[in-house]
Amino acid sequence: MAKAKIKKIAVMTGGGDCPGLNAVIRAVVKTAVNYHGLEVWGIEDGYLGLIEDRIHPLNYNDVSGILTVGGTILGSSNTSNPFAYSIMLGKKQVQKDVSEQCLVNLSKRGIDAMICIGGDGTMVSAAAFVKKGLTVMGVPKTIDNDLWGTDITFGFNTAMTTATEAIDKLHTTASSHHRVMLVEVMGRYAGWIALYAGVAGGADVILIPEIPYEMKKIADYVIARSKKGRRFSIICVAEGAKPKGGKMVVAKTLKDSPDPIRLGGISFLLADQLAGLTGLSCRAVNLGHIQRGGVPSPFDRALATQFGHHAMELLMTGKTNRLVVIKDGKLNSIPLGQTAGRIKTVPKNHPLIAAAEAVGTGFGI
Ligand code: F6P
Repeated sequence: MAKAKIKKIAVMTGGGDCPGLNAVIRAVVKTAVNYHGLEVWGIEDGYLGLIEDRIHPLNYNDVSGILTVGGTILGSSNTSNPFAYSIMLGKKQVQKDVSEQCLVNLSKRGIDAMICIGGDGTMVSAAAFVKKGLTVMGVPKTIDNDLWGTDITFGFNTAMTTATEAIDKLHTTASSHHRVMLVEVMGRYAGWIALYAGVAGGADVILIPEIPYEMKKIADYVIARSKKGRRFSIICVAEGAKPKGGKMVVAKTLKDSPDPIRLGGISFLLADQLAGLTGLSCRAVNLGHIQRGGVPSPFDRALATQFGHHAMELLMTGKTNRLVVIKDGKLNSIPLGQTAGRIKTVPKNHPLIAAAEAVGTGFGI
């Protein structure tokens, strides 16, 4: 039986925010309205708004002027999984499948399809909605650039530019005070931001989760630089970097969250250890959410616009259950479920690691 023509769609942004989300929303709405004459609805705060029935019409005017605006006009959340939603049953917290209610909230408005813009967690639930019969299209986002199946995600370019600018600024103060300056960037399981910003900012040492470090090697490197008359060093460290045989620094573990681990603090730990080993003055800065904020870079605006447009084109040619990706430099798509639980880490033979080593950058090994 031929599928009914799509007339109304909903769009949502899930997970941690990221520069370029608004550019995707804009491209989805404008393509839907301009090219296909569709009605578009915006779901507030990711799956939370879908569960709580906070879904409002999204018009052409609502998305005018948002291309260059960071964050997401729809809001986002990374705490609500419709298939395991935390509720209180008396005094006990239990997890309930509220996905049927989500489908009712869409169908009562006549919504035929949902565009989910998010990371791995968002896509796992999106794929589960497809199994329940909903037409879904996924658009990948994360500043960490670690979503499996796509060469690049929008938001990464902005984040690594922000991190590079921070390293540039830290250079001058590190140099003035003859200090070792550690700059901590995001990247839980993949060191893309640390690697790119570290190379672009000329960091002396780059520490990423994929290459467990040895503290002594970092200390030897910094002392050798100091002996050569280079009286300061910059170390760019991913939040998920860990010592050989050791563990990541977990800042806290959230209760009742589908995404419970929060990292942060490795730079401060390393600064103390390094000061002890080298006798040098060491300082640490954690860039944190600054990397997720602000105006998206021109590259991310263009990529996000392409992703949003492509998602709409796939949807209108009868495709569903696809995640828009860039593969070998070209727009493409893969089945939504394929990304589940998979992370795109930095391969040890990545050409940028080789180039960094050639210009004298250490990796703590
Ligand atoms: O989007 C991924 C990420 O930026 C991680 O690098 C970081 O650990 C995490 O989000 C922090 O998320 P939040 O503080 O929003 O829970």
